[in-house]
Amino acid sequence: MKTKVICPGSFDPVTLGHIDIITRASTMFDHVVVGVLNNLAKTPSFSTEERIELLKKATEGIDNVEVVGFDGLLADYARDNGITAIVKGLRAMSDFEYEFQQALINKKLNPDLETVFLTCNSDYLYLSSSVVKQVASLGGDISSFVPECVHDEILKRLKQK
Ligand code: PNS
Repeated sequence: MKTKVICPGSFDPVTLGHIDIITRASTMFDHVVVGVLNNLAKTPSFSTEERIELLKKATEGIDNVEVVGFDGLLADYARDNGITAIVKGLRAMSDFEYEFQQALINKKLNPDLETVFLTCNSDYLYLSSSVVKQVASLGGDISSFVPECVHDEILKRLKQK
């Protein structure tokens, strides 16, 4: 059976840490769906369409990756689309408590759905979308934080704020 997994997130905006997890997932599974979702606990700086476009550009060289956006529950989307696992990156213990709770909730909502955690690349331990937004808004260099092909777009967009 072909394995179809999802890398979900708010990706506001995409970072090199996200791309590292997506790329590694693409070598482990047959098909990787990158799900751009809204985290109800956060107010996004980029629209869903913008986040999807940036991710499409940043992953266009990876054949078995597709980028989608949807509303509603991740567990339901997975059930309706033949997805058997969620793949998420873990940076530090601080991520663990939240991610562990999400994994348990998703399992409760869809008992057929597994969650797989990949340890993040140590180069990106400190990196998050919020760091990108803060550094850019204060005039700092984000070139080692975001994919080169979307660097200018992200910077321009953050400077407009
Ligand atoms: O990048 P983030 O903000 O950590 O991603 C969190 C996200 C978007 C994956 C999570 O909030 C999510 O799955 N949202 C969709 C709604 C859902 O299914 N929530 C889980 C039950 S509370």
